[in-house]
Amino acid sequence: MEGSIELVPKENIQKLPETAPLSLVEKAWISGFLAGIMEYAEAGRPFPSIPKWAPISPVARQWAEEFIFNLLSFPQAELQKEEESSRANHSTIKIFFGSQTGNAEELAKRMGRKLQSVKFPVSVIDLADFKSVDLTKESYAIFFISTFGEGEPPDNAREFWEYLSSSEAPRLENLQYALLALGDSAYPDFCQAGKNVDKRLEELGAKRIYPRIDCDVDYEESASKWIDSVLEILPRSLQISDQSKQAFSVETKGEGQKVSVPLTSKKVSVPQPPFNKQNPFPSRVLENRRLTLMGSEKETRHLELSLEGSDLSYLPGDAVGVFPTNWPVLVQEIIETLGYTGEEIVPTPSGENVPLREALYRHYEINSILDDFPKKGIGALELVKNLRSLSPRYYSIACSPKLYEMEVHLTVVVVRYIQHGRWRRGICSNFLAEASPKVPIPIFIRSNPNFRIPSDPDAPMIMIGPGTGIAPFRAFLQERMAIGAKGKNWLFFGEQHRSTDFFYQEELEDFLKEGVLTRLDTAFSRDQSYKIYVQHRMLENAQDFWGWLQEGAYVYVCGDAHRMAKDVDAALHRICETAGGLSKEKAQEYVQNLRSSKRYLRDVY
Ligand SMILES: Cc1cc2nc3c(=O)[nH]c(=O)nc-3n(C[C@H](O)[C@H](O)[C@H](O)COP(=O)(O)OP(=O)(O)OC[C@H]3O[C@@H](n4cnc5c(N)ncnc54)[C@H](O)[C@@H]3O)c2cc1C
Ligand SMILES: Cc1cc2nc3c(=O)[nH]c(=O)nc-3n(C[C@H](O)[C@H](O)[C@H](O)COP(=O)(O)O)c2cc1C
Repeated sequence: MEGSIELVPKENIQKLPETAPLSLVEKAWISGFLAGIMEYAEAGRPFPSIPKWAPISPVARQWAEEFIFNLLSFPQAELQKEEESSRANHSTIKIFFGSQTGNAEELAKRMGRKLQSVKFPVSVIDLADFKSVDLTKESYAIFFISTFGEGEPPDNAREFWEYLSSSEAPRLENLQYALLALGDSAYPDFCQAGKNVDKRLEELGAKRIYPRIDCDVDYEESASKWIDSVLEILPRSLQISDQSKQAFSVETKGEGQKVSVPLTSKKVSVPQPPFNKQNPFPSRVLENRRLTLMGSEKETRHLELSLEGSDLSYLPGDAVGVFPTNWPVLVQEIIETLGYTGEEIVPTPSGENVPLREALYRHYEINSILDDFPKKGIGALELVKNLRSLSPRYYSIACSPKLYEMEVHLTVVVVRYIQHGRWRRGICSNFLAEASPKVPIPIFIRSNPNFRIPSDPDAPMIMIGPGTGIAPFRAFLQERMAIGAKGKNWLFFGEQHRSTDFFYQEELEDFLKEGVLTRLDTAFSRDQSYKIYVQHRMLENAQDFWGWLQEGAYVYVCGDAHRMAKDVDAALHRICETAGGLSKEKAQEYVQNLRSSKRYLRDVY
């Protein structure tokens, strides 16, 4: 019984069952021995077998050896064997996620941890890796799928959807499944990708074991309830008993690697950071300056927020979630126009009772209230029933922790426009624009493992980031500079006017001088009589672009999803056709391969 091990927590190990065939002295001795083993394991040393001189009977010795064996999760090789056999009988519950910006992924992992904590064998799988699982042989699958673009699946689920919706998709009669769709009801195709997958699974003969839920932006509570309900109906027979020798694993595929965690290992209870979405960190504003110059039609700002004392950490590619409050002037206008006092007691989305003024300031989206209810007549309770809860907004982190460990930098364009004759202010971008060091900003970090610099420091990167899309690329370049990566870097940046909107110009020129940035191509759309955008610059340089792709370049796109990302995608296909000499179909295949090999990554919004 020698080997390097993972152990259950000390408090469990030392609790010997009442029924153990041991005298009091034997119990005391074995408990002490188990505590000792724990220390060996913690020090990473092989653990000893029960010594010959132990003051216990042969029966007690045999019992103790078996007990210890059952309690320990197996070393890696054993674990893999068990995992393979668990795969073979397909009793592991597969949790798949299709996620662009991390919400569905986070929910899938949360459900994975929950199932694991009640001893269900479970694997959490990125839908980009759906081919690693034969769905026809699976018994249970849970899907978490968000919707992107206009009713489309997120990038990591595109290939899965193509496969599932094709005429070649296999029958899935063995499969029992449940699906949670994530979306935003402000979009016309609400949760469409999830709805499509749900419908198609049913068509292919899979059995829905729990009704689909379509979650809106304030999905936390409904998603949690749904997860609990699905958990309730999963057959208990799948659970692994404590005394079983089986050691299953939760796999999560993120950051391009597979992590196997033994079920009974201490590693299972990943400590939650003290600050997160449920408990945001009150961050101090260190800097808040305008990037665009006088005369610009836009106001884009650079913010630096402190992480000092938060214990929060991040990687380039991650985003910050910000909880804004509403503009007090609008709160007052609503109260006056609709004839309230502001003191009426109303529930918040989480059920707490607060005065209306507080609810409108802190808890609900209020920008369209005066369009929807222009006159007095609606009671305060009725009003809040009609409102969506105020959700956090996300901003790409524009710096590298290698340079700014205790800070996050943001690049924020301030949303202001006129609609129905009224000036509108984007809630969060204006909240940030006006943020001062005196008022803390509630933030949390949202990890985005699908948007990372290549693990190979020599791999070339092509970054397409017009407007605020440049933010993560500032972080990428800082990171590559800090680690001394040798890979070539090519940035496409675009805005309206060179003279007023070329933000981070000096820094980018320094990157060029230092050789961190190999190429910088800019597109200033309104500096000439016709419009020039980043996709035009890509096409002008099609031959070089294709050459970089042949050298293994990673292509990153960040920024506007509505027009830019689509136009850039079309340009990429065009480059494959013109410079690469591929047919339309082959170009599509080529781009799909880039996507599935995670060399075409997008963070678009
Ligand atoms: C993963 C991710 C990363 C992001 N990164 C960044 C970033 O780095 N920098 C950044 O600035 N933003 C970023 N965003 C966008 C950001 O999260 C917010 O959506 C943005 O700041 C607007 O929020 P708001 O609260 O100011 O506006 P809201 O109050 O939410 O209002 C925005 C809404 O106003 C409407 N609207 C806006 N302009 C017009 C118009 N001209 N005419 C009519 N209607 C209009 C639209 O319906 C729009 O949805 C990111 C988003 C995501 C999902
Ligand atoms: C650019 C963009 C496009 C979106 N398109 C849709 C859509 O068509 N339908 C929908 O229901 N939700 C849409 N959403 C909302 C997302 O599905 C929602 O934010 C979801 O929580 C994201 O989950 P994820 O982080 O797992 O990708 C869109 C969001 C963005 C940023």
